[in-house]
Amino acid sequence: MSQSKNVGIIGLGKYLPEKILTNQDFEKLVDTSDAWITERTGIKERRMARPDEATSDMALAAAREALAAAKLTAQDIDLIVVATVTGDTAFPSTACRLQGALGCRPIPAFDVSAACSGYIYALTIAQNFIKAGTVRYALVVAAEKLTSVADYTDRNTCVLFGDGAGAAVLAAVDSGGILSSYLGTDGTQSELINMPAGGSRRPASHETVDQRLHYLKMNGAEVFRVAVKTMADAAMEAMNTLGVHSAEEVDLVIPHQANIRIINAVAKRMGVSLTEGKVFLNIEKYGNMSAASTAVALTEAVQQGRVKKGDRVVMVAFGSGLTWGALVIELS
Ligand code: UT7
Repeated sequence: MSQSKNVGIIGLGKYLPEKILTNQDFEKLVDTSDAWITERTGIKERRMARPDEATSDMALAAAREALAAAKLTAQDIDLIVVATVTGDTAFPSTACRLQGALGCRPIPAFDVSAACSGYIYALTIAQNFIKAGTVRYALVVAAEKLTSVADYTDRNTCVLFGDGAGAAVLAAVDSGGILSSYLGTDGTQSELINMPAGGSRRPASHETVDQRLHYLKMNGAEVFRVAVKTMADAAMEAMNTLGVHSAEEVDLVIPHQANIRIINAVAKRMGVSLTEGKVFLNIEKYGNMSAASTAVALTEAVQQGRVKKGDRVVMVAFGSGLTWGALVIELS
């Protein structure tokens, strides 16, 4: 097995459910307007998985596309890491379901719970398995069915979220790959975004269902404030390690797609503006897909030719936990 220190992405994939929920659809559900949602968030549409479509089904479709792009089969994979907070079930993990559905060998497969930062966490974990020499090919998938935990009576949150999946195959590469990674958490602020019931602290009961505690709750304004500073700081940390001090010096910034105003403020702090075309945006089409946002964005950036082999990309995310993470990747 290769001892190379360089670990890169050799195949990317994505899956978005067909059904589109427009801002106009939300006008019929809650007291909101297309104008408010567009102006305050940048979102016009988001995708919604079918009732019979679970997170592992979306993960499977994205994984197959990534494997095909890498010219590998499921049998070649040595490790699966799935980033999700909306797995098919509390247990077993969505990664186990994916391993079974793909027909992989009995390899290690596990989920990572880091909310919107999950893809960055999972890529970093897979990178280190490969660096250690115990894994040759790793499959990383970020998949979320946030419509299953969005409260369609709460206008503050329901308009923000959508479903989707993105996948990457990682392997040792001759040069470039993941050049730096910076991860962090602040568990003292875990109440800012959470799902209160359904775990060991508040098991499901008639009461928790009646109180709508199985839906995502968020203090949007406070999350907004912390997100701007933390995402910018994390991205700068990942870049500074490489002697890079402004996003001007990289080819593309791929931020978590939670709110266009957050992205705008983060980009400014990183030294670029949205009008320069250096910041990848797909929030208008998909809304916030948690971990899947950065995964789908990276796949689309490559598929659309926005970046090519040798280009440097900064990815940065922030979410429930609180968690954050940033990566600099030189594309293989
Ligand atoms: O993925 C994890 C990270 N998540 C995020 O980064 C999300 C961060 N937060 C945000 O994106 C924004 O805070 C929101 C989009 C959630 C809210 O935007 P805001 O500009 O911070 O609005 P606000 O919470 O300060 O609320 C302003 C007003 C309130 O009305 P009052 O109390 O001033 O009368 C809200 O009730 O906007 C109202 N409002 C809405 N109005 C129409 C909240 N949601 C809606 C809505 N339609 N959908």
